[in-house]
Amino acid sequence: MSDKKIALVTGANKGIGYEIAAGLGALGWSVGVGAREQTRRDAAVARLRDAGLDVFGVSLDVTDDRSVAAAADLIAERAGRLDALVNNAGITGGGPQQPSSVDPAVIRTVVETNVIGVIRVTNAMLPLLGRSASPRIVNMSSSVGSLARQSGPGGETSTGPVAVAYAPSKSFLNAVTLQYVRELADTNILINCACPGYVATDLNGFRGVRTPQQGAATAIRLATLPDGGPTGGFFEDAGVVPW
Ligand SMILES: NC(=O)c1ccc[n+]([C@@H]2O[C@H](COP(=O)([O-])OP(=O)(O)OC[C@H]3O[C@@H](n4cnc5c(N)ncnc54)[C@H](OP(=O)(O)O)[C@@H]3O)[C@@H](O)[C@H]2O)c1
Repeated sequence: MSDKKIALVTGANKGIGYEIAAGLGALGWSVGVGAREQTRRDAAVARLRDAGLDVFGVSLDVTDDRSVAAAADLIAERAGRLDALVNNAGITGGGPQQPSSVDPAVIRTVVETNVIGVIRVTNAMLPLLGRSASPRIVNMSSSVGSLARQSGPGGETSTGPVAVAYAPSKSFLNAVTLQYVRELADTNILINCACPGYVATDLNGFRGVRTPQQGAATAIRLATLPDGGPTGGFFEDAGVVPW
């Protein structure tokens, strides 16, 4: 087994995930670029390799059991272990998402990707994370899933628009993360949620105000935490996000 740290980033062909892969690669890690579509995956891998980074493509649709199992097999064969899993892939489900008129199918689709996808990938990768000396899991959440902020005085500037599929999917993801933290409390796996801030990507029609590189910073920090670092937290650049 290589001494090089190994990471897997889901949804790494573009946006924040791409920059998380680039950032970990720049730190000397070998990074699996998880992406569901071959052309987009190959293009991202080529760009990252052109930048001198040690990356490899991982065919990965987080909603597909067989795809996720094959991704775990690929990493097992290639590296024998996983040091950091960044569950970044996510969708909004499109808008508008008013509670009174939402199509329940939109909620199912968003939860399937943003929540069940994370569970599916995490469970497939746990045996590989168990072979790491310092395993880390980072779940890409959003402050729009913060119930404290949703119910606080900040309004749309701190919580985003009403979005009954997307925002609660991140609250659900936060709650699921804490269940993993509780189950795995006796292990050395550090598990945290990250919020990237409002980042200009496809996800929001590039209306965000931060760059994908800025959005990647917290996830990179959490993926590379030293032993003894925090677990069971929810972080953004400015510090802790209230649940
Ligand atoms: N942008 C923001 O302001 C913001 C704020 C808070 C949180 N976030 C979170 O940050 C994460 C990354 O978002 P982003 O802004 O970088 O969005 P993005 O540019 O739209 O990228 C999303 C990535 O997820 C992938 N993905 C979607 N469904 C997938 C599936 N079923 N299997 C595998 N990959 C899938 C996409 O792949 P394809 O190219 O194949 O679609 C893409 O690579 C998401 O979890 C998002 O909720 C973003």
